[in-house]
Amino acid sequence: MEAIGQLTGGVAHDFNNLLQILSGNLQLLQRRVHEPDDVKRISASLGAVDRGAKLAAQLLAFARRQPLEPRAIHLGRMVREMDDLLRRALGEAIEVETVIAGGLWNTMTDPDQVQNAILNLAVNARDAMGGGGRLTIEAGNAMLDDHYAMRHEDVKPGQYVMLAVSDTGSGMTPEVLEKVFEPFFTTKREGSGTGLGLSMVYGFVKQSQGHIKIYSEPGQGTTVRIYLPRTLAAEEILTDLSAAPVENGTETILVVEDDPVVQATVVDLLKDLGYTVLRASDGQSALTLARSGIPIDLLFTDVVMPGPVRSPDLARQVQAMLPGIGVLFTSGYTENAIVHGGRLDPGVNLLSKPYRREDLARKVRHTLNNRRQAQGAQARAVVPPPPAQAPATVPPASTLQGLRVLLVEDDPLIQMDCEDMLTGLGCRVSTARDGRSALRELGRGSFEVLFTDIGLPGISGVELAQQAVLDDPALQVIFASGFGPRSGADGSRPSVPGAQFVSKPYGPAELEAALRRARGV
Ligand SMILES: Nc1ncnc2c1ncn2[C@@H]1O[C@H](COP(=O)(O)OP(=O)(O)OP(=O)(O)O)[C@@H](O)[C@H]1O
Ligand SMILES: [Mg+2]
Repeated sequence: MEAIGQLTGGVAHDFNNLLQILSGNLQLLQRRVHEPDDVKRISASLGAVDRGAKLAAQLLAFARRQPLEPRAIHLGRMVREMDDLLRRALGEAIEVETVIAGGLWNTMTDPDQVQNAILNLAVNARDAMGGGGRLTIEAGNAMLDDHYAMRHEDVKPGQYVMLAVSDTGSGMTPEVLEKVFEPFFTTKREGSGTGLGLSMVYGFVKQSQGHIKIYSEPGQGTTVRIYLPRTLAAEEILTDLSAAPVENGTETILVVEDDPVVQATVVDLLKDLGYTVLRASDGQSALTLARSGIPIDLLFTDVVMPGPVRSPDLARQVQAMLPGIGVLFTSGYTENAIVHGGRLDPGVNLLSKPYRREDLARKVRHTLNNRRQAQGAQARAVVPPPPAQAPATVPPASTLQGLRVLLVEDDPLIQMDCEDMLTGLGCRVSTARDGRSALRELGRGSFEVLFTDIGLPGISGVELAQQAVLDDPALQVIFASGFGPRSGADGSRPSVPGAQFVSKPYGPAELEAALRRARGV
């Protein structure tokens, strides 16, 4: 496994760089070409890039080398949310039934990869049920005891959340069953199966400290059971970045990338999005540029780079020099620089290669918006506070006078700034850094408004608000989010009735407007 991992990782790194060059240039061309035949050729080529990317991702998954981003999730909710997708993938002839046990525990796992696994199992089931049949997805709590653990390799006894996918299809012979997890093992005819589906699922489950078991007999159908470790953490509500709008920008971005062709492509993509771009081929020259005093808003760096300065060190040093700078990592394969124990280090922003222009645009915008909020805080910090009598001379402000607000924000700089703004509006403010301490704070005093960031460590702002409103239905909620102006009520699910949204970066005016909307004044 170790050797396969190294091999796959090494190939994936170079392979994804190649794909990045192809995909970036094709997309730049796509915007210039209008001749219908050429347009078709370009989209066929982009389709091939996607297939290549999928292949590399599946191999990395099998080798247990993909950077997982585990979150506390409720598998039942996830399965229900996939309903449409599954029905479309399976077609009319197959009936789908989902059975979610009551009181289902949460599990700590990478949501995208679980979805991927479920989809793979469902497609296998579809293929095994040529003429139609029934697919059943079940989720339930499970205990794997010592006895079971002893009889199965690599299983730790304990509490798990079990996900089972069953079909009424052809089933498998023992000979096939023995080989299904092997990469490239397939019984499908050439062109219709790569034989990587179950290998990927297997790798993912193992990397997640889970367990997988298949029951199948010819003519009797198949059941695949996946066990993922239980977590006691509260469910995290996920914000879907892919729903965010694609926006341009004018900030300055320092691109650090050692492969000259990849560098040229990325620089062109970013310029095409309106950004000013500086470039460096290694950590050392990037540091020199940062030291020169040129204002830089975002460091966009490859993870794997030649030379003595490793990318995490580069990020740290640049952040120390230019406080408030945004950092976005990119890689075709992350090795161990920013991934530890199979998961991405907390707080690390990663865009995996190859990426599309839209992914790049969204991720850059998102990172910059969060950063601009922090920087606005610094800029405002040097402005003297308004004279104490100011609010009194503006009569409408009095409706916010003395309003008790709990502010929840994990970035200390943004928190300080926002507290100042709220106090400037006449509010009485308490603060918390995360959901748990916020709930404690809410239990202690009576608050009229909860103003919370959506992305918080531990439980999310949305989860916090839902709990808080249950405890105190009169509480008004305002969410702050870094996902750009158009996300919000529909971009963040599920919503909290009557909640207001402000998008980062916000200033006192936006904040006041949101408070007034929340108060209905
Ligand atoms: N639900 C099932 N019923 C019957 N046979 C199955 C089922 N799932 C998998 N198999 C068998 O296991 C083999 C390997 O499955 P796997 O998902 O790894 O690859 P594939 O489906 O052939 O190709 P790919 O998923 O890469 O498109 C299949 O070719 C099939 O023979
Ligand atoms: Mg398959």
